[in-house]
Parts: sequence; structure tokens; C-alpha cells
Amino acid sequence: MIHVRIAGTGSYLPGEPVSNDDLVARGIDTSDEWVAARTGIRARHLAAADVGASDLARVASERAIEAAGCDPDDIDLIIVATSTPDYIFPSTAALLQSKLGIRNSCAAFDVQAVCAGFIYGLTIAEKFIRSGSHKRALVVGAEVFSRILDWSDRSTCVLFGDGAGAVVLETSDKPGILASALHADGSHHPILCVAGSVASGQVIGDPFLRMDGQAVFKFAVKVLGEVASEVLDKAGVSAESVDWLIPHQANLRIIQATAKRLGLSMDNVITTVARHGNTSAASIPLALDVAVREGHLQRGQRIVLEGVGGGFTWGAALIDF
Ligand code: UT7
Repeated sequence: MIHVRIAGTGSYLPGEPVSNDDLVARGIDTSDEWVAARTGIRARHLAAADVGASDLARVASERAIEAAGCDPDDIDLIIVATSTPDYIFPSTAALLQSKLGIRNSCAAFDVQAVCAGFIYGLTIAEKFIRSGSHKRALVVGAEVFSRILDWSDRSTCVLFGDGAGAVVLETSDKPGILASALHADGSHHPILCVAGSVASGQVIGDPFLRMDGQAVFKFAVKVLGEVASEVLDKAGVSAESVDWLIPHQANLRIIQATAKRLGLSMDNVITTVARHGNTSAASIPLALDVAVREGHLQRGQRIVLEGVGGGFTWGAALIDF
């Protein structure tokens, strides 16, 4: 039986943190008090205009490859989860392959599952490796959500940030990824979407993120609790055996509600939402890398990664790190 483990993690945040007060100073009709109380967010990072998702992905990937102790050309599969790609095509993954200097013509493609995108990418890569067709995958979540925010809409623009996180997955003798689950229900698409496209040289529809915050909140709490239980059940292990819950970082209140449903203390939950805001597909691998580099997550510990986002899409992975 081929097992799949996380061999290394990396992440990257562009520029200096932009605080809630900085947003107020930029003319947004909000306050640190409102944003912190409703979401737990204190700051986010925003990429410069000439920096794309592939640029953030490159730095995060270099750090993950270094942590994994392999060479870029040892990677034989690249998956980038993003809803803010550099271009309509080629894929951000193909651009990333070039920026990393990988010359082995390995497979490279993007996955579009919004804030659940990293879990989708991780699960797809795991199945490639488990099948025996591939040995070492680079899975990245990279976003420049600042590009799709309506900065005159205070109910959304304060919530999101830019960044990238990456992992190298490889074959292993011991179990690493124990169970995973992916779901989608497209009937909920109107409550969180960017309902625009490009045609005939013009933007057709609305190019900005629109969200019914309360509907998203309720849906997220429900499915995050369910999908975490689903992967625990699949593996036949209890929530008490989990050392760290590393959830999508959208809102501290969603994270607290999810932990409570699972019976986990917040002492066992990695949270970066205060520092990063919601970085969509990047948020889970960013939080994972912070957990590793700040010394919280140790080899041999058990983690649950889980995310939910536009579509709606959601998923989770149970992993012995
Ligand atoms: O990756 C998944 C993505 N999204 C999420 O997970 C978000 C899920 N939803 C949420 O986190 C919350 O619903 C929000 C943080 C978005 C909003 O919190 P809420 O408690 O649901 O607030 P609300 O939308 O009901 O708005 C309450 C009030 C309104 O004022 P009135 O009508 O009561 O006078 C808003 O106009 O807060 C006002 N408001 C703001 N005030 C200051 C909305 N945005 C802001 C703001 N600053 N940025």
C-alpha cells in the first residue's frame, strides 16, 4: 500500500501587514472594533499591483521544497488552487513550473474550488501518488483576493487578504493522509460569488466578490462540523486523538463554533485569521506552515485540515503529520 505524507511546508505573505486602522485611514467606513469583534481579523497583507498569484506561489513553493529536502526537478505534479489566477490561461500552475525552473515537463494544472481549493488540490494529489503514477507533488494555495474586492463595499473588503501556502507531498512507508472528503452543492452559488467574465474585450457581469455574510456563516458552521466528523469516521478515529484542527481562516467565530461542535478546545486550533484575514485557498496551507514554523505542530501529531468556500464547496483531510 502506498502512503502519502507531507514532506515539507512553506508560505509567503506580500508586503507589510495592513491593519484595520490602516483601512480606516485609507477611507473605508469601518472600525478596528467592528472588524475585530465580528471576525477576529486585525490585519491582512495586500500584494502590489504587479504581483500575481504565481509570484506568491513561487516563494511559498521554494520554501516548501527546501523544507522537504528535495530539488525542484524532483516534483512530478504541480497543482495550484486559486480563484485569482494570473491569467484566464495558461494556468497559474504552468506559470509556477516555469518560475521554479522545473524543466522535467511534469503535469501542472489549477484547481478552482475557492476557499476549499487547497483541500481539493491536496486530495487530488494524494490520489495521483497513491495510484503509483506520481511520486512527489507540489500543492499550492495562492490568492490575490484584493483584486476582486469592491473597496467601496465595507461588508466584504475588510475580510480578505493575499498570500500563498504550499506543501510537498510524497510517498511514504507510514500512513500520512489517513482520510479525506470533498463535497460541493452548486445550488448555493448566489450567496458567495464573483459573477463576472471576460468576453469580446469586456467584463461581462460583476467582477467583484459579493457575499450574503450571514447565509455563508450558517452554511460554513454546519458543513465544517459535518465534514470533520466524516473524515474521523472514515479513519475510525476519535476527535480526542486530534492534536490540531487547522481550519480555513475566514472568521474566528466560525472557527470557534466548529471547534465546539467537534468537542475540541481552542488550545488545539491553529488560528491565523487575526494576522492574515481570509486568504481563500491559501489560508489552510498558510496556517499549516505557521503551525510548523512557530513550533506548534510536531512530526507524528495528528491534524484535521478543513475548508469551505464559494460554490459551495467544502472538504477535509485527516493527516498524521
Ligand atoms: O471563506 C468563506 C467566506 N466568508 C465568510 O466566512 C464570511 C461569513 N460571514 C461573516 O463572517 C459575517 O456574516 C460578516 C463578518 C461578514 C458580517 O457579520 P454580521 O454579524 O453577519 O453582520 P451583518 O452583515 O449583519 O451587518 C451588521 C451591521 C450592518 O449595519 P446595520 O444594518 O445593522 O446598521 C452593516 O452595515 O454591520 C454593518 N457593517 C459594518 N460596520 C462596520 C457591515 N460591514 C461593516 C464594516 N464595518 N466593515
